[in-house]
Amino acid sequence: MGENVNEAVINESVIRDIGLAPAGEAKIHWVSQYTHLLNHIQADFEKNRPFAGRRIGVCLHLEAKTAHFVRILKRGGADVTVVPSNPLSTQDDVVAALVRSGVRAFARHGCDAAEYQECHMRLLSLEPDLIVDDGGDLVTALHARFPHLIPGVAGACEETTTGLARLRAMEKAKALKIPVIAVNDAQMKYLFDNRYGTGQSVWDSVMHTTNLVVAGKTVVVAGYGWCGKGVAMRAKGLGARVVVTEVDPVKAVEACMDGFEVMPMTHAALLGHFFITVTGNKNVIHEAHIRLMQDGAILANAGHFDVEISKPALNALSRAHYEMKPNVEAYEMQDGRKIILLAEGRLVNLASGFGHPAEIMDMSFAIQALSLEYIATGKAKLSPGVISVPGELDEKVARLRLLTTHKEIDALTQEQIDYMNS
Ligand code: ADE
Repeated sequence: MGENVNEAVINESVIRDIGLAPAGEAKIHWVSQYTHLLNHIQADFEKNRPFAGRRIGVCLHLEAKTAHFVRILKRGGADVTVVPSNPLSTQDDVVAALVRSGVRAFARHGCDAAEYQECHMRLLSLEPDLIVDDGGDLVTALHARFPHLIPGVAGACEETTTGLARLRAMEKAKALKIPVIAVNDAQMKYLFDNRYGTGQSVWDSVMHTTNLVVAGKTVVVAGYGWCGKGVAMRAKGLGARVVVTEVDPVKAVEACMDGFEVMPMTHAALLGHFFITVTGNKNVIHEAHIRLMQDGAILANAGHFDVEISKPALNALSRAHYEMKPNVEAYEMQDGRKIILLAEGRLVNLASGFGHPAEIMDMSFAIQALSLEYIATGKAKLSPGVISVPGELDEKVARLRLLTTHKEIDALTQEQIDYMNS
């Protein structure tokens, strides 16, 4: 993309290597051919420039679909800065391509915790007036470190279940001072991204990272929320015996009805060849479970934070710990068993993969784009707190998806409308 080479943006950015841009450009170009909703929205944004004069701070997984989304915000008139929402999900070539096209970035793959925070501080010191967050790190850093900037922030969008849990906790404690649109809770987001996106991308990553067969093995899925449902459904499709662990009795019944075995992790630990955690909680796999696992058990996490599988427990129980190949670490237990951890227990589908498929992120980012436009254009007066995506935006994205996939549906007749209203 030869447009807008902006030397100032290149100089301000902190990235791995601007020379990687052509490889990143190829990745962005590839996915952009499949993001029909975003491409439609792009044409509208170019015409109406809803973000003219706005500074948007974006904290997302910096991969190709995100880059395409970010460029669309820029084409809508925004000055955009990006930072990572996970230290391992940043793709340096994609970030280089973004910077070459005029998007400021503070992001390097594999940054340590201090650099990760520093990226967020740099972004916030640019005083964004709109925020796009994934996991809640940027919004919490705004409140904790830059409270004087809060009056200048018109609002934020949050992409994930985990981020919303954090923000709702802040809201309950009366600590959330800006409006945040709960993008994750839009039907056109969680029904597809969380279920089909996570279902496909987790197995894509686990399979290419390990190069092992799933058929005939036992897969333990911890958590039967929308993401867990997707992971379990795809494991079944790959021919695995699937065991679900849950703490919520309703979800546990749902898993049983969907045809899965349900049991506590202390029982499942003995059976699993693969363990995938998708709960959003911590220490879902802990010392007592690791002690029971069979030699060669493979552990992966698909929840937002790397706290679901206890790394302190793995370290405490092992006599040696080494990398076997990229994103595959062996923990050699005192008794000689090897337990395998993928992607350091971080979100496996992004830390060791390419994230959700393009058509799925197309829908998620379409909701993001329209929600951000809703805040930016001040169509409604928004109070601080967690706010639902307006129903008409969900419907607009659904109709656009039908249109771009050449599907038609029926409409109610006047007689039916009257009947329903009577
Ligand atoms: N690509 C960009 N953001 C993502 C997310 N939250 N999950 C999966 N893939 C993504």
